[in-house]
Amino acid sequence: MVDEARNSVPVEESSGDGAGSRPTIRVQNAAKSFSGRTVVDVEDLTLGTHSIEGLIGPNGAGKTTLLRMIMHSIPLDHGAIVLSSDGNGAETVLSDLSTSRMAQHGVVKTNQVITDFEQLTVLDSMLLSVAQRSDEWAFAIYREQGLHTDHADEIHWYLDRFDFEDSFGFANSAGEKKLLDIIRCLLLKPRFLLLDEPTAGLPDRIRDQLMELIREKATQDDISVLIVEHDLHVIWNMCDYVHFMAEGRVVLQGEPAYIRDHETVVEQYLGSGHV
Ligand SMILES: Nc1ncnc2c1ncn2[C@@H]1O[C@H](COP(=O)(O)OP(=O)(O)O)[C@@H](O)[C@H]1O
Ligand SMILES: [Mg+2]
Repeated sequence: MVDEARNSVPVEESSGDGAGSRPTIRVQNAAKSFSGRTVVDVEDLTLGTHSIEGLIGPNGAGKTTLLRMIMHSIPLDHGAIVLSSDGNGAETVLSDLSTSRMAQHGVVKTNQVITDFEQLTVLDSMLLSVAQRSDEWAFAIYREQGLHTDHADEIHWYLDRFDFEDSFGFANSAGEKKLLDIIRCLLLKPRFLLLDEPTAGLPDRIRDQLMELIREKATQDDISVLIVEHDLHVIWNMCDYVHFMAEGRVVLQGEPAYIRDHETVVEQYLGSGHV
């Protein structure tokens, strides 16, 4: 059914080179206002030209809204958002799709898959993601045992690596829920992964493990990753490229060191002494 998916986790055979095979997302003249106030107004922004990119900016800059616009979980006032799949020139207008169809096109954001941590055990949540990535997922979920057998290696690879307190029980702490949310996104086999504050509330040890995992996925599976994050250690350590957003616009872009030292960023966001 979805056996080919087993090959990429846990034993990666990809060369990791993948130049030109990662997808990009282009935001074109896209705006969103709430109650007449424009909160996002992006003229032309391309995301995903580097494997891991960061999106930073002060609270209220419009980062989360921009991610929700990309996922089409809120409609745009105007403009378009286009996914370029790979080197072959295939394009999909994401802003024409429903949110539920995004994953089929490989675009996945944390915090939007399912949030019913109280009803699904850790293991069931992972199985649901595996089932969801199949075209036949509604059928697959009814043969759960088969699904588990087919994907046991993949699921246990995550369970072993992340030491859940009780994989047959429910995710307990906020940290476990957050971790599970990200693992479920990865089990959907994203091609473009959007992470909105992935490390907020996580203990340092889990944060570091998680970032290592994201880095591995980005390089080995050619996933494009966009991280919105206030923990700037994560941004400076993880990202190849950073977009700085203020008052609804992306005002600066560049390598981490350039952004970190730029006077606009220092003045508007970091404050004196931060760097
Ligand atoms: N659903 C909404 N209704 C009204 N205002 C909103 C809504 N979502 C976001 N906003 C406003 O849009 C601005 C940008 O918010 P947000 O995108 O969450 O910023 P960030 O993620 O950069 O902190 C904020 O002023 C916020 O209050
Ligand atoms: Mg936000």
